[in-house]
Amino acid sequence: MLALHEATPQSWVDAANGDVATILVDHAHCEKKAASTALNLIFRYQDHVELMAPLSALAREELLHFEQVLAVLQARGIAFVPLEPAPYASRLYAAVRREEPWRRLDTLLACALIEARSCERMKLLSEHLDDPELRALYAGLLASEARHFTGYVELADAAFGRNVARERLRELALHEAAVLREPSPALRMHSQAIPWEPG
Ligand SMILES: [Fe+2]
Ligand SMILES: [Fe+2]
Repeated sequence: MLALHEATPQSWVDAANGDVATILVDHAHCEKKAASTALNLIFRYQDHVELMAPLSALAREELLHFEQVLAVLQARGIAFVPLEPAPYASRLYAAVRREEPWRRLDTLLACALIEARSCERMKLLSEHLDDPELRALYAGLLASEARHFTGYVELADAAFGRNVARERLRELALHEAAVLREPSPALRMHSQAIPWEPG
């Protein structure tokens, strides 16, 4: 249902379990970035009125998630510090074509895949983290991220037709899986699965 080409292996889950503070801080940054991306699309595609309300609602929901994770950080005395993002999103967006209307299609689908991967990883966290409060946090969030995936794909379907949108989604999902096999410098919500050099 999530269109992902490859599943996250257990090694990433184990690493996340070993450093939940980093996962939580990076997660807060991801929610902020998800809101910002939706808002940027509203500004970039003002002439596409059908995108306005869905993306506005999505941005608001991501900001609520951001506040929710910030509250967890505060309750645990974890500082919300800047973090170098995983290369994942910028490497994924590298496959977005530059010319319109394909830039719009590819961006909607890249956003869908980021939501899908977030959902997949949150499900793993909800099942495997040692900390019951964090398992509950992720169990509560993953349905929203699945809905965001569906929402972005439906916007692409509506604008470009289901056949065109789904074929491109398949291509970008292959790219997304390849990106996740590339080296990542540190543990992140969207870091690669293979253990990195500690450091
Ligand atoms: Fe979110
Ligand atoms: Fe989301």
